[in-house]
Amino acid sequence: MRRATITGWGKCTPPAVLTNEDLEAVMDTNDEWITTRTGIKERRITHTETSDMATVAGRHAIATAGLEPEDIDLLILATCTPDRIIPSAASLVQAKLGVTNAACLDVNAACSGFVYGLSLANGMIATGAARRVLLIGAEKLSTLLDIEDRSTAVLFGDGAGAVVLEPAGDGDGVLALNLGTDGGLAGILTVTGFGTEEIGNVAEQFSLYMDGQEVFRNAVTQMGEAATRAVAEAGLSLEDVDILIPHQANTRIIDATARRMKLPPEKVFVNITGYGNTSAASIPIALTEALESELIRPGAVIVFVAFGGGLTWGAACLRFGDRVTPLGTSDARLPATSFTGLDLLLQRQDERRRRRGLA
Ligand code: ACO
Repeated sequence: MRRATITGWGKCTPPAVLTNEDLEAVMDTNDEWITTRTGIKERRITHTETSDMATVAGRHAIATAGLEPEDIDLLILATCTPDRIIPSAASLVQAKLGVTNAACLDVNAACSGFVYGLSLANGMIATGAARRVLLIGAEKLSTLLDIEDRSTAVLFGDGAGAVVLEPAGDGDGVLALNLGTDGGLAGILTVTGFGTEEIGNVAEQFSLYMDGQEVFRNAVTQMGEAATRAVAEAGLSLEDVDILIPHQANTRIIDATARRMKLPPEKVFVNITGYGNTSAASIPIALTEALESELIRPGAVIVFVAFGGGLTWGAACLRFGDRVTPLGTSDARLPATSFTGLDLLLQRQDERRRRRGLA
């Protein structure tokens, strides 16, 4: 069966920056705690919707693949923060991007969404059901940030990343995937207030609950094991891995995963410092930045690995194609804003309080 290979890539990182110092001004936290516990220094906060960021990232990915929007026949959008429940955010992106010949759907596997989407794209290309897939990870996690909860508010940011997948040549493409879920642990990372259980319960507007230590413990185990299994299923050994691009949730989780895989730091891509945890967007943003920094050579063996709410986890082992430079470029970007990240965060907090009837 034909494998899928990555032929295009792109990202959208919103212009408004929220620093640790900004957070110090509005909650009981400090740069030293956030940096040593998570590796995060700043994150981006969007003044737009998830589908706007996804559209910009998608436009860049299509341009780097040397394609036009009409060439895409399947659009998968991995997100747990869609603009609305119906229609899918993918449908909104289709209209904004002009991907008129594509079937469109959202995938929600929280932070593992990009790897799950990659698995679906690979399967559709393998069976011939699709030939040119646009896979986007996009999140507006600032919607979930509550400055009254310092244990989660410092962790997340907004952004989007995208890849185009096409049938692979000989040797390159997705070599192996390893996915898993433990629904028994659904309660340790959950957002209430946006679903059938919660209709009408405005007081619970998007409450994020996370048992950080339990998530941490599971993440380290599942990421290391899934990545190791994917490499083995690809018929390779861990020494063959050229670069690990992990979900950017926490540098300590990334370091522990790399140690389990016996990978030296120079083989591990980390950009959490500037973006925080962008959930399903983090791996395609990181891949794009690794390519832009010329860290991926033709034919490189890459491992993606992620975990997230569900609990879900997933890893992919792939061999990149011969082309690591763009075929085309796009000048797509979000509209400018005069708001800072802190302005936007405080606006969202006011809205949250207003809905709860506290303002
Ligand atoms: N600033 C200062 N102090 C804080 C903050 C903060 N922002 N948050 C918590 N603390 C305090 C706590 O109150 C506690 O104080 P105490 O000892 O006086 O009670 C102390 O710091 C330690 O708190 P812990 O929760 O034990 O801190 P820990 O070392 O576990 O780090 C963290 C917390 C960073 C959340 C870590 O557990 C973690 O990274 N977990 C994984 C989270 C994650 O990656 N989630 C991603 C999935 S998201 C998704 O799928 C959408």
